[in-house]
Formats: sequence, C-alpha cells, structure tokens
Amino acid sequence: MAETNKRKLQAKLESLQVYGDTLVGWDENTPPNETVDADGNVNPSHRGFGVSDPNSPNHRVYNDPGVEALRSQLRQHNGIRGLEICEPHEIKRAARIFHRDGFVVVRDLLNAEQLARWREGCARVLGDILSISGQGNRKYVTETGRLPHRYSYGTSSASRQMLHDSVWASMIDLPTTTPIVKEIFGSSNYRVWGSGGDLCLPGAIEYQHLHSDGRDAQHLSENRIEQARLLGLELNTDSLGKFDVPTQKLIMEMTPPTVTINFLMCDLTWENGPIRQIPGTHTAQQSPPKPADEPEWMKHSTLVGALAGAGVFRDNRAWHGATPNLSREVRALPNVEYAAPWRSSHGFKKVMPHGIWETLTPHAQKLCDWIKADPDVWPAGASIMHPLASKRAEAARA
Ligand SMILES: [Fe+2]
Repeated sequence: MAETNKRKLQAKLESLQVYGDTLVGWDENTPPNETVDADGNVNPSHRGFGVSDPNSPNHRVYNDPGVEALRSQLRQHNGIRGLEICEPHEIKRAARIFHRDGFVVVRDLLNAEQLARWREGCARVLGDILSISGQGNRKYVTETGRLPHRYSYGTSSASRQMLHDSVWASMIDLPTTTPIVKEIFGSSNYRVWGSGGDLCLPGAIEYQHLHSDGRDAQHLSENRIEQARLLGLELNTDSLGKFDVPTQKLIMEMTPPTVTINFLMCDLTWENGPIRQIPGTHTAQQSPPKPADEPEWMKHSTLVGALAGAGVFRDNRAWHGATPNLSREVRALPNVEYAAPWRSSHGFKKVMPHGIWETLTPHAQKLCDWIKADPDVWPAGASIMHPLASKRAEAARA
C-alpha cells in the first residue's frame, strides 16, 4: 500500500507543472498555521517566517466552507485597482514608478523560450523538494520556519541560492531587464547577490505576514551619495554644509540596497496567491502591521492581472507578503537579486560554480564576480534541496 502511494506521488511529481491545474497541494492532513523547526518538529516556540494567520480557514480543503468564504471575498476584492503595468521599452517610466512605489510590474520580460525553460526548472526543483515524504500522514515536509505549502527556492537550497542551476543563472542579464535595472541604480556597477524566489502550492490558505526583506541601516556613505548624484538627485545642504534632512531622506529613498526581480511563471489571478505589495513603504521606519491588525485594503493590495512572463521589480525594503492560493495551480515566482553599486563585497557568498559563470554574458560575468567560486571548487551545498534547515546544514558541511 505504502509502495503504491509512493509510486503515485512519484508519477505526480514527474508530471508536475508550475502553471495550469495540478494534483499537488491541498493536503488536508497539514493543519492550518503549522510550522516546523530545523529538525522538523512541529510548532516550535520560535516560528521564524511561519507567523500565524489568525484569520485563516480552519481546514485545508478545496471545498471547505471557510475556504469558500475567503474565495468569495478574494473574487470580489483582490487586486490593486488601476495597477500600472509597463512595457519593457518603457525604461524611464518603469524606474519612476519603482522609485515612487517601491515596486513596478513590467510585462513580457521573458520570451516564450525563456519562460518555458524557467517553468521546466521550477517544476524540476519543486519536484525535488516535494519528493521528501511528510511526517505522519502529511503529504509534504513543510519548510523550516515557514507556513505550510510555501517554499523558497533560495532557502530550500543548501547553498542558500540557485545559481548552481544554469536556468536561474541564464536569467541574470536579459535584454528586457538589464536596461531597467541600470536605470533604477543610475549606473551599471551593481552586482548580483543571489537568485532563488518563492512559490506556494495550491492550498496555501494562510496569508504570509507583511514584511521587508532585509534591513537598511541607512548610513550616508560616500558611495551612496555618489550613486544619488549619478541618479541626478537635487542635493541640498544646510548652513553647516551638511545635507539637510529632506535630502538625506531622498537619498535613502532612491538608493535601495537590493533590487529583486520576481518573474511570473503563471498569470497572477485573484485566486492563486498573487504577491501583495504596499505602495510607498520602501523607506518606512515603522514595522508593518501584524496579521491581526492588517486592514482589508492591504490584504487585497496584490498584483492581480500581471501575466506569465512578466516580472515585478521590488525594492526589497517595501512591505510585501504572499497571499492565499485557493486555486489548483502552483504559483511560482523565481527571482534574481541585485545589490546596489554603493554596497561593498561584505556578505557576498561564492555560490556560483565557475563552470556556470563561464557560460554567462560578459555583463553578467561582471555582475557575478563577487559570487563566483574558483575553478574546481564546488560551492558548499549547491544542488542539494531540502525543506529542513538541519538537513541543509548537513549537506553544506559535507
Ligand atoms: Fe519577502
């Protein structure tokens, strides 16, 4: 019997796709809001990114009345009204919206061949993650410190990034994305920090809490001021010759430490867990509201209407979060993360094998010089995927 189930799961994973209806997800045996620690123990005191959603439906079942009620709310209200979507050639407009809102959606970043290649890669790696059987009667292992049915390609990788995979690496420097990244940074001297992205299976019924990715210490360094000058900002000084406070704020606003592009493998619909972004929060010093305090308008501030092949350029500081996927489709958003020209090499890890680096365009090679491993050195943990942090640490040590 167990053997038959295993074979069924294997067959499911072999035909897995990250667009269109799928048979994976909706595991009713994984309770709402359940998370696990590094070793897979359920509901530890430290929940990490697995912050509970107090309003989640009570059952992870497609036709459950609680799920139906949430679905009917989302059908009616989900999505930013009048969401602006740029064309790839609208470089200045895209950068302007990005700096204003902390994110911008651009359509058709990937051509048909690139989209197909990344879909195949996302499905293949997701298959690896899901092939590890869940505890007890659960279908899957939940990722350490996350809510059920939500995985990150980056954090599930024992090297913390996906740049050992030629599919991810091949998306670093595209004719559609590079001009926009350059415009946002005001120069071509930025770097690649990493590449991964997140996904949710159908049946991820909980809202992920609003958060920023990483902290900006907001030091007014020489390099940061230089980048502000390259962006053409008007910099005003006070009577002591120091930048006045509005100018300091403007510099911080316009020079994010990290810009991430998340690429859409499927159309974002009201039902399949579109990412939510709260406009204008990229330099907020306050914390975003806790799940119990989050107003409806923020919950519905999502990128519904953006289509497969599009991408969202995100200032990592802007408040964002994943939303319930009540559909039958996997929602995957693989990404590439770029570090600002003002940043030093501090914290960069050698996660890209030399052989992969050699296949890149000259510009991408330059962007990756701080993360490229030496010839004949395989980056620790690269190509090992596991939902549990203890298993990833083991793989990285080996
Ligand atoms: Fe995030």
